[in-house]
Amino acid sequence: MRVYLDNAATTPLSDEVINTMVPFMKSHYGNPSSIHADGRTVRAAIEQARKSVAQHLNASIGEIFFTSGGTESNNMALKCSVRDLGVTRIISTRIEHHCVLHTLECLEKTIGVEVVYLDVDKKGKINNTQLDEILGSSKKKTLVSLMHANNEVGTMINMDVIANICQNHDAYFHSDTVQTVGHFNIDVSKTKIHFFSAGAHKFHGPKGVGFIYINSDSIIKPWIDGGSQERNMRGGTENVYGIIGLAKALEIAYDQMEERKNYIKTLKAYMAKRLVDEFEDIQFNGDYDGKALYTVLSVSFPASPKSDLLLFNLDISGISASGGSACTSGSDAGSHVLNALKVDPSRKSIRFSFSHYNTHEEIDFVIEKLHTMVVAKQKVQSEA
Ligand SMILES: Cc1ncc(COP(=O)(O)O)c(C=O)c1O
Repeated sequence: MRVYLDNAATTPLSDEVINTMVPFMKSHYGNPSSIHADGRTVRAAIEQARKSVAQHLNASIGEIFFTSGGTESNNMALKCSVRDLGVTRIISTRIEHHCVLHTLECLEKTIGVEVVYLDVDKKGKINNTQLDEILGSSKKKTLVSLMHANNEVGTMINMDVIANICQNHDAYFHSDTVQTVGHFNIDVSKTKIHFFSAGAHKFHGPKGVGFIYINSDSIIKPWIDGGSQERNMRGGTENVYGIIGLAKALEIAYDQMEERKNYIKTLKAYMAKRLVDEFEDIQFNGDYDGKALYTVLSVSFPASPKSDLLLFNLDISGISASGGSACTSGSDAGSHVLNALKVDPSRKSIRFSFSHYNTHEEIDFVIEKLHTMVVAKQKVQSEA
């Protein structure tokens, strides 16, 4: 048996998504920029995909640009707002994904952009008053970049509250929504946001494709020079089947959002309860009881020789989970997120992340395997 509990790293594709993509590999192979019928068929499908994505977000079709995924979309938002919108200061946190953090470092070093990092508390939450004060402390054109949900521990911001604070200070607002698009409803007619990002593979779509939402008031210049694809913003022949798969996966995610959410919540709560009931000194990282991703359970196990190599032992027992984010799990530098949350470094943190494909039986299997790896509570003898 193999149990996949690393859905924050990537999610499996559904057959329905694959079946929607296949005709665009087999028969509809025209270049969408060609003006003949084969090209026009594919162009129409891309524009239909854009319309479908835009409708779910209550955006207009001109505000959706397809990209290669979350990393590119985040780079685009940050770099284009500096290059094209006069942003000279960016306010963010140290628990953003590396594709944001490394972009901020690059902008600081190469262009001299001022980067201000907000404090985060032990749960990964920011202080809105501090954001308000920092925004008010300078006349510099500012972009606030805060992830909607943290990919390692799941802590979420309230986008509406942040958007209002930004609006009061005439600041731009970007959110890395890679972990939340397709899992939470985002409505740009209600939330005043300038940029947000998505990667299809986080909501059961294909890898290597995503989109960026750019509010129509934020006029930026081409991001990739070349042909006139993506309304001149991103040259290069489109990832046609990726885009088709993304739109289908998002459509299904919206159709089934409540059902999936309710089911995954029960899985997460079931696993959390069994962990607490059966093992010594279990803690949960992030804002476990508060505003957090229902797909992520970041568990902190107490230090013990038994739990050394926990992730490795889980893997050889047939369980895929993660130490931090997928991008850092191959290095032993430790998680920048857990460090920022001041999680005791001697404890072992494992991120289990769920999808609607997981079952309670799979959780039972993980718990059973964990009994051979971490310190269990002493069983109280029953009288019967
Ligand atoms: C919060 C967050 N931002 C950005 C990314 C990068 O997205 P992509 O893999 O689509 O480039 C990820 C992926 O792990 C993520 O979790």
